Amino acid sequence: MRERSEAEIQVERVMGFFASRVALRWTITRPAEDRLLGHVSLFNFSEQSGRADIGYGLARPHWGQGLMHEALTAVVDYAFGPLELRRLEADVDPANAASLRALDRLGFSREGLLRERWQVGDTISDTVFLGLLAREWHSRA
Ligand SMILES: CC(C)(COP(=O)(O)OP(=O)(O)OC[C@H]1O[C@@H](n2cnc3c(N)ncnc32)[C@H](O)[C@@H]1OP(=O)(O)O)[C@@H](O)C(=O)NCCC(=O)NCCS
Repeated sequence: MRERSEAEIQVERVMGFFASRVALRWTITRPAEDRLLGHVSLFNFSEQSGRADIGYGLARPHWGQGLMHEALTAVVDYAFGPLELRRLEADVDPANAASLRALDRLGFSREGLLRERWQVGDTISDTVFLGLLAREWHSRA
């Protein structure tokens, strides 16, 4: 994003998702600063099916400090606690080692490789599909 208006449109979209209960997005900040460092989202969210996808991103200067680990732990706790979901899913580009490490740390299992799943511009990439079950999370805790 380059313009404030782009951010405002994005916030409107996210609030709409929240209102219709199809996605939840949290912002990551430090307690003393009101500045956005990153986000974590639950999307394709359905209380009926008991599952959601998890997505996340952190601005590059904040990588490697464990911030996303702390944020993901809180969101997974919330998903398997108050939201009572049964399963979380993620799909990750196999080349995205930092993201795969973040999910491995939480106990996600690699459940499959979907070949040529995404096309972004001219680039076609496979995706690693990962899942974490509530009962696995609770037994780790
Ligand atoms: C994926 C992404 C969020 C990972 O960020 P990250 O900072 O590596 O993630 P974490 O918060 O889990 O930090 C873990 C790293 O911090 C280090 N660290 C330092 N202090 C730590 C602490 N107290 N607790 C945990 N880790 C700590 C760890 O050693 C680890 O480094 P390593 O992976 O080199 O071993 C980041 O690379 C990103 O935003 N990428 C772009 C967006 C993206 O790819 N999103 C996911 C799409 S599927």
